[in-house]
Amino acid sequence: MKKKVTTRSAPPARPFAYRNRSLSCDGASLTALAEAHGTPLYVYSAQQISCRFQLFQKAFGSRPHTVCYAVKANSSLAILKLLGEQGAGFDIVSGGELERVRRAHKPALKKVVFSGVGKQAWEIDAALKANILQFNVESEQELDLLAARAQALGIRARFALRVNPDVFAETHPYISTGLSEHKFGIAITQARAIYRRAAKSKWLDASGVSVHIGSQIRKVDPFAAALDRVTSLVAQLRRDGHNIRYIDAGGGLGIDYSDAPFDAAHQVERYAAALAKGLANEQAHLLLEPGRFLVAQAGALLTRVLVTKKNGAKTFVITDAAMNDLIRPALYHAHHEIVPVRQPTGKATITADIVGPVCESGDFFARDRAIANVKPGDLVALLDAGAYGMTQASNYNSRPRAAEVLVDGTKTTLIRRRETMRDQLATEIL
Ligand code: LLP
Repeated sequence: MKKKVTTRSAPPARPFAYRNRSLSCDGASLTALAEAHGTPLYVYSAQQISCRFQLFQKAFGSRPHTVCYAVKANSSLAILKLLGEQGAGFDIVSGGELERVRRAHKPALKKVVFSGVGKQAWEIDAALKANILQFNVESEQELDLLAARAQALGIRARFALRVNPDVFAETHPYISTGLSEHKFGIAITQARAIYRRAAKSKWLDASGVSVHIGSQIRKVDPFAAALDRVTSLVAQLRRDGHNIRYIDAGGGLGIDYSDAPFDAAHQVERYAAALAKGLANEQAHLLLEPGRFLVAQAGALLTRVLVTKKNGAKTFVITDAAMNDLIRPALYHAHHEIVPVRQPTGKATITADIVGPVCESGDFFARDRAIANVKPGDLVALLDAGAYGMTQASNYNSRPRAAEVLVDGTKTTLIRRRETMRDQLATEIL
């Protein structure tokens, strides 16, 4: 009798795997994509993004909720469209991101939440006219501006105060936001008085309370602690007579950038359980703002080795991608796995700095990293680059921004062409 295999294994954390000794994205050859579109090239798996979104839908399925994908993580229109068509809402932080949502999937405008500490009148106007779901207000001055613009346009504004719960989330200091020392939100202790004052304006509708404690947070307890404080505030606000319908728990759920096994489904379940704990019996409609978790591992930055060289004891691998394409290692000392596209036959490695051609020493992807003995002309992939990669790209050193390809099943689509010199010079006046 055949033995039944019952081991439950998590689906791979990344869509990138070797096929016939060559790295592929859901079966699409990265070598072929590099030949067709050039490098540096961002490659994303649509399947992986959908899969991550569905993990959220499932984990929060038992309560009314909307997943408002944080556009800043990856704002390419094709990716917004993909998520919008599956029912996602969006968390935006600028008039520019609002316009992207409008172009990508207009019906999702009604599921937009607008965060950010420095919203301008024109951005507020555009969002009011688009009838977005909610403004997440970060200061009293902003609330006054919102009331004034709502009155001027004759459109009532739904708002949540983004409260700062003073909760410590263990992450990089640049992306931690939930402590009173940070610029974000309004001290939770002041919130009640501000809601009371807002209730005097007929142009303001206190629809919710929001919180966001930071990004790349791996432990789920801080989320529970923050929501616990928000839930107590909501109960108090209801007693004060405010009709609070939404609790926005923000984003921030982290991924594993290392090559250790990572069970994304389990991570979302733990996160959902932590939020449920914080919410206790609270039944408000839950808004979630994941960014990184949905898109980071779906993407890789594909780059070609230009030069390898030795300076003293150090070996350098110089690629055609640079810090202007992916700034995370330079800015946060972030770790990205770097793998050769041609699968190495042996285990031999070199220890090298993998760097770009930009003229500063901060332009590195990895330092003293063991990597296969790559040669000029070889392709390598920087993994987990789907979030905060392209959106943080720049033209530093007058380098054109990369192209992007979306792999969807057996279909591969160029979703952004490579920038040209003409594009770069278009706004300049001589
Ligand atoms: N909601 C708000 C209000 C946010 O400020 C952010 C991220 C998110 C949601 C989404 O957070 P996520 O789920 O992606 O962690 N550039 C940095 C990350 C900056 C995050 C800024 N805010 C990086 O590359 O690590």
